[in-house]
Amino acid sequence: MLSNKIIDKLNEQINCEFYSSNLYLQMSSWCDNQGLEGCAMFLANHSKEEMGHMNRLFSYVNECGSMVKLGDIKAPPTEYASVTEVFEEIYKHELFVTKLINELVEAAFSEKDFSTFNFLQWYVGEQHEEEKLFKAIIDKIKIIGADGRGLFHFDEQMKQLYAGRQLDGAGEPGFNG
Ligand SMILES: [Fe+2]
Ligand SMILES: [Fe+2]
Repeated sequence: MLSNKIIDKLNEQINCEFYSSNLYLQMSSWCDNQGLEGCAMFLANHSKEEMGHMNRLFSYVNECGSMVKLGDIKAPPTEYASVTEVFEEIYKHELFVTKLINELVEAAFSEKDFSTFNFLQWYVGEQHEEEKLFKAIIDKIKIIGADGRGLFHFDEQMKQLYAGRQLDGAGEPGFNG
């Protein structure tokens, strides 16, 4: 049995995961438009992962005998100055998501809702992985460079990262460069 406060916060998190999914899908189209095939593939796939995060929450709320309430999802930005900006924005967004998850965990704990507290531990671990992944990508951009041949090489790396995540079901960054 979920309290109204926890239901509201879980619904908010569902909305946030939808937004993350749309944000990365939009960025994937931006990359595709710039001829960055690898980045586009990686981001379209990551958009699907965010839908997985949404679905996990969706099922949990239903299993608890509560009803999900889907709200408006704000439109993501469509313009970016560079691929560096795209990944910096993602990293910032993931830090924001971590903050929301932490607030949700704190609310569950203070309400003694230990079932939700336990359920949320997966998200705590996942946010650690997300931050690590996007920090590694930004580091890679800094090393390779994101103009001229560097940009081509970076995009090739993203293609490999995408392929690696397909094989191991989305885990370690696994750069080969
Ligand atoms: Fe997520
Ligand atoms: Fe994420």
